[in-house]
Amino acid sequence: MTAVSEVSPDPIVYLNGELVPLSEARVPVLDRGFIFGDGIYEVAPLYAHASGRRTAFRLKQHLTRLARSVGKIGIANPFDDAGWHELIGRVAEANETDGGLRADQDAIAYIQVTRGVAKRGHAFPAGVKPTVFVMVTPLSLPGAAQRASGVACVSAEDRRWLNCDIKSVSLLGNVLMAQYAAENDAFETLQFRDGLLTEGSSSNVWIAKDGVLAAPPRSNKILEGIRYGLIEELTAECGIRFEARDITEAEVRAADEIIVSSATKEVLPVTRLDGAPVGAGQPGAVFAALYAAYQRAKAAEAAAAQEGVENESRERLTV
Ligand code: PDD
Repeated sequence: MTAVSEVSPDPIVYLNGELVPLSEARVPVLDRGFIFGDGIYEVAPLYAHASGRRTAFRLKQHLTRLARSVGKIGIANPFDDAGWHELIGRVAEANETDGGLRADQDAIAYIQVTRGVAKRGHAFPAGVKPTVFVMVTPLSLPGAAQRASGVACVSAEDRRWLNCDIKSVSLLGNVLMAQYAAENDAFETLQFRDGLLTEGSSSNVWIAKDGVLAAPPRSNKILEGIRYGLIEELTAECGIRFEARDITEAEVRAADEIIVSSATKEVLPVTRLDGAPVGAGQPGAVFAALYAAYQRAKAAEAAAAQEGVENESRERLTV
Protein backbone atom coordinates (compact mmCIF):
# COMPACT_ATOMS: atom_id res chain seq x y z
CA MET A 1 0.00 0.00 0.00
CA THR A 2 1.16 3.49 -0.81
CA ALA A 3 0.73 6.18 1.81
CA VAL A 4 0.18 9.72 0.53
CA SER A 5 3.59 10.74 1.81
CA GLU A 6 5.13 8.04 -0.41
CA VAL A 7 3.65 9.46 -3.61
CA SER A 8 6.67 10.60 -5.48
CA PRO A 9 6.96 13.10 -6.89
CA ASP A 10 4.39 14.95 -4.83
CA PRO A 11 1.71 16.23 -7.24
CA ILE A 12 0.44 19.78 -6.97
CA VAL A 13 -3.28 19.80 -6.28
CA TYR A 14 -5.97 22.46 -6.08
CA LEU A 15 -7.91 22.64 -2.83
CA ASN A 16 -10.37 25.45 -2.12
CA GLY A 17 -8.57 28.18 -4.01
CA GLU A 18 -4.98 27.11 -3.33
CA LEU A 19 -2.41 25.12 -5.26
CA VAL A 20 -0.60 22.93 -2.72
CA PRO A 21 1.47 19.73 -2.69
CA LEU A 22 -0.81 16.71 -2.25
CA SER A 23 1.10 15.73 0.89
CA GLU A 24 0.07 19.04 2.47
CA ALA A 25 -3.56 19.18 1.30
CA ARG A 26 -5.97 18.90 4.25
CA VAL A 27 -9.73 18.94 4.73
CA PRO A 28 -11.41 19.25 8.14
CA VAL A 29 -12.82 15.98 9.49
CA LEU A 30 -16.28 17.55 9.54
CA ASP A 31 -16.19 17.85 5.77
CA ARG A 32 -19.40 16.13 4.68
CA GLY A 33 -17.45 14.20 2.07
CA PHE A 34 -15.62 12.49 4.96
CA ILE A 35 -18.57 12.21 7.34
CA PHE A 36 -21.36 11.26 4.91
CA GLY A 37 -19.79 10.64 1.49
CA ASP A 38 -21.83 13.73 0.58
CA GLY A 39 -20.17 14.75 -2.65
CA ILE A 40 -19.52 13.93 -6.27
CA TYR A 41 -16.50 13.51 -8.53
CA GLU A 42 -15.32 13.38 -12.12
CA VAL A 43 -12.45 11.59 -13.84
CA ALA A 44 -11.41 12.96 -17.24
CA PRO A 45 -8.47 11.92 -19.42
CA LEU A 46 -5.92 14.46 -20.65
CA TYR A 47 -3.93 13.04 -23.54
CA ALA A 48 -0.37 14.04 -24.32
CA HIS A 49 0.56 14.56 -27.95
CA ALA A 50 3.74 14.69 -29.95
CA SER A 51 3.33 18.46 -30.18
CA GLY A 52 4.02 18.61 -26.44
CA ARG A 53 0.47 19.78 -25.78
CA ARG A 54 -2.18 17.92 -23.88
CA THR A 55 -5.81 17.58 -24.98
CA ALA A 56 -8.66 17.19 -22.54
CA PHE A 57 -10.67 14.43 -24.21
CA ARG A 58 -14.44 14.98 -24.22
CA LEU A 59 -14.07 17.46 -21.37
CA LYS A 60 -17.29 19.23 -22.27
CA GLN A 61 -19.21 15.99 -21.71
CA HIS A 62 -17.38 15.36 -18.41
CA LEU A 63 -18.22 18.87 -17.22
CA THR A 64 -21.85 18.46 -18.27
CA ARG A 65 -22.02 15.27 -16.18
CA LEU A 66 -20.34 17.06 -13.27
CA ALA A 67 -22.97 19.81 -13.48
CA ARG A 68 -25.69 17.15 -13.55
CA SER A 69 -24.20 15.36 -10.52
CA VAL A 70 -23.96 18.48 -8.35
CA GLY A 71 -27.45 19.50 -9.53
CA LYS A 72 -28.92 16.16 -8.50
CA ILE A 73 -27.65 16.53 -4.94
CA GLY A 74 -28.42 20.23 -4.56
CA ILE A 75 -24.90 21.66 -4.60
CA ALA A 76 -24.36 24.87 -6.56
CA ASN A 77 -21.75 24.22 -9.23
CA PRO A 78 -18.62 26.05 -7.99
CA PHE A 79 -17.49 26.85 -11.58
CA ASP A 80 -18.93 27.08 -15.05
CA ASP A 81 -17.39 24.97 -17.82
CA ALA A 82 -14.86 27.65 -18.71
CA GLY A 83 -13.86 27.99 -15.05
CA TRP A 84 -13.36 24.24 -14.63
CA HIS A 85 -11.43 24.06 -17.86
CA GLU A 86 -9.11 26.84 -16.81
CA LEU A 87 -8.63 25.30 -13.37
CA ILE A 88 -7.71 21.89 -14.79
CA GLY A 89 -5.27 23.65 -17.11
CA ARG A 90 -3.71 25.47 -14.17
CA VAL A 91 -3.28 22.29 -12.16
CA ALA A 92 -1.83 20.42 -15.15
CA GLU A 93 0.63 23.23 -15.78
CA ALA A 94 1.66 23.43 -12.14
CA ASN A 95 2.42 19.72 -12.22
CA GLU A 96 4.57 20.06 -15.30
CA THR A 97 6.57 22.71 -13.50
CA ASP A 98 6.71 21.27 -9.98
CA GLY A 99 4.73 18.05 -9.68
CA GLY A 100 6.78 15.69 -11.81
CA LEU A 101 4.31 15.35 -14.68
CA ARG A 102 6.19 15.10 -17.97
CA ALA A 103 4.76 16.90 -20.98
CA ASP A 104 4.65 13.61 -22.90
CA GLN A 105 2.64 11.79 -20.22
CA ASP A 106 -1.08 11.12 -20.50
CA ALA A 107 -2.83 12.32 -17.38
CA ILE A 108 -6.09 12.08 -15.54
CA ALA A 109 -7.94 15.02 -14.05
CA TYR A 110 -9.75 14.06 -10.84
CA ILE A 111 -12.30 16.59 -9.62
CA GLN A 112 -14.20 16.28 -6.36
CA VAL A 113 -16.86 18.55 -4.94
CA THR A 114 -18.36 17.93 -1.52
CA ARG A 115 -21.13 19.86 0.19
CA GLY A 116 -18.56 21.41 2.53
CA VAL A 117 -17.81 21.55 6.22
CA ALA A 118 -20.58 21.75 8.83
CA LYS A 119 -21.60 20.50 12.27
CA ARG A 120 -22.68 16.88 11.85
CA GLY A 121 -26.36 16.51 10.94
CA HIS A 122 -27.77 14.55 8.04
CA ALA A 123 -29.90 17.14 6.22
CA PHE A 124 -28.23 19.83 4.13
CA PRO A 125 -26.71 22.55 6.34
CA ALA A 126 -27.44 26.16 5.42
CA GLY A 127 -24.79 28.50 4.08
CA VAL A 128 -21.88 26.10 3.60
CA LYS A 129 -19.31 26.49 0.87
CA PRO A 130 -18.56 23.40 -1.21
CA THR A 131 -15.12 21.84 -0.88
CA VAL A 132 -13.39 21.75 -4.28
CA PHE A 133 -10.45 19.48 -5.02
CA VAL A 134 -8.66 18.96 -8.34
CA MET A 135 -5.74 16.60 -8.92
CA VAL A 136 -3.92 15.86 -12.19
CA THR A 137 -1.83 12.70 -12.10
CA PRO A 138 -0.20 10.46 -14.73
CA LEU A 139 -2.47 8.01 -16.51
CA SER A 140 -1.21 4.57 -17.49
CA LEU A 141 -3.51 3.16 -20.11
CA PRO A 142 -3.78 -0.60 -20.49
CA GLY A 143 -0.93 -1.89 -22.62
CA ALA A 144 -0.97 -3.81 -25.89
CA ALA A 145 -0.44 -7.13 -24.06
CA GLN A 146 -3.55 -6.62 -21.94
CA ARG A 147 -5.58 -5.65 -25.00
CA ALA A 148 -4.29 -8.71 -26.85
CA SER A 149 -5.09 -11.19 -24.08
CA GLY A 150 -8.17 -9.49 -22.74
CA VAL A 151 -9.07 -9.44 -19.06
CA ALA A 152 -10.81 -11.87 -16.73
CA CYS A 153 -13.93 -10.73 -14.88
CA VAL A 154 -16.17 -12.17 -12.21
CA SER A 155 -19.84 -11.45 -11.63
CA ALA A 156 -21.99 -10.57 -8.64
CA GLU A 157 -25.41 -9.30 -7.66
CA ASP A 158 -25.66 -5.50 -7.87
CA ARG A 159 -26.49 -4.45 -4.31
CA ARG A 160 -25.88 -0.73 -4.72
CA TRP A 161 -28.42 2.04 -4.26
CA LEU A 162 -30.71 3.19 -7.05
CA ASN A 163 -29.04 6.50 -7.84
CA CYS A 164 -26.07 5.02 -9.69
CA ASP A 165 -26.49 7.76 -12.32
CA ILE A 166 -25.00 10.26 -9.84
CA LYS A 167 -21.20 10.12 -9.88
CA SER A 168 -21.17 10.11 -6.10
CA VAL A 169 -18.12 9.68 -3.88
CA SER A 170 -20.29 7.33 -1.76
CA LEU A 171 -18.63 4.37 -3.47
CA LEU A 172 -18.72 1.64 -0.83
CA GLY A 173 -20.82 -0.65 -3.02
CA ASN A 174 -18.38 -0.16 -5.89
CA VAL A 175 -15.37 -0.58 -3.59
CA LEU A 176 -16.71 -3.93 -2.35
CA MET A 177 -17.19 -5.09 -5.94
CA ALA A 178 -13.67 -4.01 -6.92
CA GLN A 179 -12.32 -5.85 -3.88
CA TYR A 180 -14.32 -8.96 -4.85
CA ALA A 181 -12.64 -8.83 -8.27
CA ALA A 182 -9.20 -8.34 -6.70
CA GLU A 183 -9.68 -11.29 -4.36
CA ASN A 184 -10.59 -13.46 -7.33
CA ASP A 185 -7.65 -12.34 -9.49
CA ALA A 186 -10.11 -10.62 -11.79
CA PHE A 187 -9.96 -7.22 -13.44
CA GLU A 188 -13.53 -6.18 -12.78
CA THR A 189 -16.84 -7.43 -11.34
CA LEU A 190 -19.77 -7.37 -13.74
CA GLN A 191 -22.95 -6.74 -11.80
CA PHE A 192 -26.48 -8.00 -12.33
CA ARG A 193 -29.64 -6.59 -10.80
CA ASP A 194 -32.74 -8.80 -10.95
CA GLY A 195 -31.04 -10.93 -13.58
CA LEU A 196 -30.14 -7.99 -15.82
CA LEU A 197 -26.68 -6.60 -16.56
CA THR A 198 -25.95 -3.23 -14.98
CA GLU A 199 -22.24 -2.28 -14.99
CA GLY A 200 -18.81 -2.95 -13.52
CA SER A 201 -17.50 -1.53 -10.25
CA SER A 202 -15.93 1.36 -12.19
CA SER A 203 -16.79 0.74 -15.84
CA ASN A 204 -19.66 0.33 -18.26
CA VAL A 205 -20.20 -3.08 -19.83
CA TRP A 206 -21.03 -3.96 -23.43
CA ILE A 207 -21.76 -7.26 -25.15
CA ALA A 208 -21.50 -8.20 -28.81
CA LYS A 209 -23.44 -11.02 -30.43
CA ASP A 210 -23.42 -11.73 -34.17
CA GLY A 211 -21.77 -8.37 -34.78
CA VAL A 212 -24.42 -6.36 -32.88
CA LEU A 213 -23.28 -4.36 -29.86
CA ALA A 214 -25.62 -3.95 -26.90
CA ALA A 215 -25.47 -2.14 -23.57
CA PRO A 216 -27.94 -1.61 -20.73
CA PRO A 217 -30.00 1.52 -21.40
CA ARG A 218 -29.21 4.80 -19.66
CA SER A 219 -31.06 4.76 -16.34
CA ASN A 220 -30.69 5.35 -12.61
CA LYS A 221 -29.17 1.84 -12.36
CA ILE A 222 -25.90 2.71 -14.10
CA LEU A 223 -23.52 5.61 -14.37
CA GLU A 224 -23.70 6.92 -17.89
CA GLY A 225 -20.04 6.84 -18.80
CA ILE A 226 -18.71 9.53 -21.08
CA ARG A 227 -17.67 6.58 -23.19
CA TYR A 228 -21.32 5.56 -23.47
CA GLY A 229 -22.15 8.36 -25.88
CA LEU A 230 -18.74 8.10 -27.49
CA ILE A 231 -19.09 4.37 -28.22
CA GLU A 232 -22.58 4.99 -29.60
CA GLU A 233 -20.99 7.46 -32.02
CA LEU A 234 -18.17 5.06 -32.85
CA THR A 235 -20.57 2.21 -33.68
CA ALA A 236 -22.32 4.50 -36.16
CA GLU A 237 -18.96 5.44 -37.67
CA CYS A 238 -17.94 1.76 -37.93
CA GLY A 239 -21.28 0.55 -39.27
CA ILE A 240 -21.87 -1.62 -36.18
CA ARG A 241 -25.49 -1.93 -35.08
CA PHE A 242 -26.00 -0.76 -31.49
CA GLU A 243 -28.88 -1.56 -29.17
CA ALA A 244 -29.45 0.05 -25.77
CA ARG A 245 -31.67 -2.52 -24.05
CA ASP A 246 -32.05 -4.83 -21.09
CA ILE A 247 -29.49 -7.64 -21.23
CA THR A 248 -30.06 -10.88 -19.34
CA GLU A 249 -27.38 -12.77 -17.49
CA ALA A 250 -27.82 -15.66 -19.94
CA GLU A 251 -27.11 -13.30 -22.85
CA VAL A 252 -23.93 -12.08 -21.19
CA ARG A 253 -22.71 -15.65 -20.72
CA ALA A 254 -23.56 -16.49 -24.35
CA ALA A 255 -22.02 -13.31 -25.80
CA ASP A 256 -19.39 -13.48 -28.54
CA GLU A 257 -17.62 -10.55 -26.91
CA ILE A 258 -17.78 -8.56 -23.68
CA ILE A 259 -16.16 -5.14 -23.49
CA VAL A 260 -15.65 -2.80 -20.55
CA SER A 261 -15.15 0.95 -20.91
CA SER A 262 -14.00 3.78 -18.68
CA ALA A 263 -11.94 6.97 -18.77
CA THR A 264 -8.86 5.19 -17.45
CA LYS A 265 -9.23 1.95 -19.45
CA GLU A 266 -10.76 3.30 -22.70
CA VAL A 267 -12.14 -0.01 -24.07
CA LEU A 268 -10.89 -3.43 -23.00
CA PRO A 269 -11.98 -6.89 -24.08
CA VAL A 270 -13.18 -9.34 -21.43
CA THR A 271 -12.07 -12.82 -22.46
CA ARG A 272 -13.04 -14.81 -19.34
CA LEU A 273 -16.07 -14.51 -17.12
CA ASP A 274 -16.31 -16.49 -13.89
CA GLY A 275 -13.59 -18.79 -15.19
CA ALA A 276 -15.28 -19.59 -18.53
CA PRO A 277 -14.09 -18.25 -21.88
CA VAL A 278 -16.13 -15.43 -23.41
CA GLY A 279 -16.98 -16.45 -26.99
CA ALA A 280 -13.81 -17.77 -28.58
CA GLY A 281 -11.86 -16.67 -25.51
CA GLN A 282 -10.07 -13.96 -27.48
CA PRO A 283 -10.70 -10.29 -28.22
CA GLY A 284 -13.16 -10.04 -31.09
CA ALA A 285 -13.79 -7.97 -34.18
CA VAL A 286 -16.20 -5.52 -32.52
CA PHE A 287 -13.62 -4.71 -29.87
CA ALA A 288 -10.91 -4.27 -32.52
CA ALA A 289 -13.11 -1.89 -34.53
CA LEU A 290 -14.09 0.15 -31.46
CA TYR A 291 -10.54 0.38 -30.16
CA ALA A 292 -9.28 1.64 -33.51
CA ALA A 293 -12.16 4.12 -33.78
CA TYR A 294 -11.46 5.33 -30.22
CA GLN A 295 -7.85 6.06 -31.14
CA ARG A 296 -9.03 7.94 -34.24
CA ALA A 297 -11.39 10.02 -32.08
CA LYS A 298 -8.47 10.93 -29.80
CA ALA A 299 -6.32 11.86 -32.77
CA ALA A 300 -9.13 13.97 -34.24
CA GLU A 301 -9.54 15.96 -31.01
CA ALA A 302 -5.78 16.43 -30.80
CA ALA A 303 -5.62 17.64 -34.40
CA ALA A 304 -8.48 20.04 -33.83
CA ALA A 305 -6.77 21.41 -30.72
CA GLN A 306 -3.48 21.80 -32.51
CA GLU A 307 -5.08 23.77 -35.27
CA GLY A 308 -6.26 26.07 -32.53
CA VAL A 309 -9.87 25.40 -33.37
CA GLU A 310 -11.65 27.65 -30.97
CA ASN A 311 -15.37 27.48 -31.04
CA GLU A 312 -18.07 26.72 -28.52
CA SER A 313 -16.63 23.23 -27.93
CA ARG A 314 -14.10 24.16 -25.31
CA GLU A 315 -13.21 20.52 -24.79
CA ARG A 316 -11.24 20.78 -28.02
CA LEU A 317 -8.83 23.23 -26.47
CA THR A 318 -5.61 22.05 -24.97
CA VAL A 319 -5.09 22.35 -21.25
N1 PDD B 1 -15.20 5.40 -13.21
N2 PDD B 1 -19.66 3.17 -14.23
C1 PDD B 1 -19.02 3.41 -13.07
C2 PDD B 1 -19.62 2.89 -11.80
C3 PDD B 1 -17.81 4.12 -13.06
O1 PDD B 1 -17.19 4.37 -11.89
C4 PDD B 1 -17.26 4.56 -14.29
C5 PDD B 1 -15.97 5.35 -14.36
C6 PDD B 1 -17.95 4.29 -15.48
C7 PDD B 1 -17.45 4.76 -16.83
O2 PDD B 1 -17.57 6.16 -16.98
P1 PDD B 1 -16.57 6.96 -17.91
O3 PDD B 1 -16.67 6.37 -19.27
O4 PDD B 1 -17.07 8.36 -17.86
O5 PDD B 1 -15.20 6.83 -17.30
C8 PDD B 1 -19.16 3.60 -15.40
C9 PDD B 1 -14.06 6.25 -13.10
C10 PDD B 1 -13.04 6.06 -14.17
C11 PDD B 1 -13.49 6.14 -11.69
O6 PDD B 1 -14.29 6.03 -10.79
O7 PDD B 1 -12.27 6.23 -11.53
